[in-house]
Amino acid sequence: MGRSYKVAVAGATGAVGQQMVACLEERNFPVAELKPLASERSIGKHVTFKGREIPVEVLDKDSFAGIDIALFSAGGSISKEYAPIAARAGAVVVDNSSAWRMDPDVPLVVPEVNPQDIALYKKTGIIANPNCSTIQMVVVLKPLHDAATIKRVVVSTYQAVSGTGQKAVGELAAQVRALFNNQEVPRKVYPHRIAFNVLPHIDVFLENGYTKEEMKMVNETKKIMGDDSIEVTATTVRVPVFYGHSEALNIETERKLTPVQARAVLAEAPGVKIVDDPAKNQYPMPLDAAGQDLTLVGRIREDFSIENGLNLWIVADNVRKGAATNAVQIAEILVNDYLK
Ligand code: A2P
Repeated sequence: MGRSYKVAVAGATGAVGQQMVACLEERNFPVAELKPLASERSIGKHVTFKGREIPVEVLDKDSFAGIDIALFSAGGSISKEYAPIAARAGAVVVDNSSAWRMDPDVPLVVPEVNPQDIALYKKTGIIANPNCSTIQMVVVLKPLHDAATIKRVVVSTYQAVSGTGQKAVGELAAQVRALFNNQEVPRKVYPHRIAFNVLPHIDVFLENGYTKEEMKMVNETKKIMGDDSIEVTATTVRVPVFYGHSEALNIETERKLTPVQARAVLAEAPGVKIVDDPAKNQYPMPLDAAGQDLTLVGRIREDFSIENGLNLWIVADNVRKGAATNAVQIAEILVNDYLK
């Protein structure tokens, strides 16, 4: 038997935190002790782990004594404040918020793409988990980049409400119920109704006219791929889907990559599943991506408007591969290669 580890989950009652706990169990992570942390609102709540009910504790500065690994998904301001506290207490933090992602001293990791970057964690004790839309995109871009050098990516996203958190899942459901029952439609989470609507607005608007989510896709892609020359432009859109982000990608490469060649490359790529049989109406969809960990890719076709262009459609479970699973995969590399 190898070593086992004391693991804290900050934000354990949230959409991603709950899935982190489920992933630790599903993947049989060597947990010696699980410490679920949340706000005072969660006093009295429990988290179920391996058939046991574990009481949720209030996150404070003393929460991390004796903890080996702390998975954070309680929002950016909590991460900003408490990740360094956890690291000072001796834990390695895997942080799902955007607080530390672009810090040059913090690695930003997708295990299928840049596992080697994890080594940099020793500087701060923090490893950042990328944005959900970026994770599923780079899982597909990396093997194509290695094969043909990507010059430019144009991406449009169709993102599920679970990416906003548990409240947004509840809001979409409540709005649908209200609409079908002729009742007043509740609206708290988004600036507009999301049920039967589409909002070209994810995270806050920036001075350059883009949203913060769009710029995350631009900047995080360069950092994860370790290549500043890849140009990315993004339009990120919230759609009334519960789980599973979809993305339409247009890629321009330096060397020609035919759809047949791209399919061959992606067939060998870790974490990727090709779902691409238009004759049988087979293509990636959120309903199929939800509840599993692979990134689905299909609609692979040539962009005839440029010399070396491809169009693709990518779908993954944003709460799993886009957040919780990716964080637990990072923790697995940590315990296998660094914390033995
Ligand atoms: P709580 O349930 O007690 O509010 P989601 O992304 O689904 O909205 O979840 C956010 C997670 O972050 C929840 O577990 C939430 O706990 C937790 N959280 C939010 N604010 C705080 C805080 N101030 N201190 C600790 N945990 C927090």
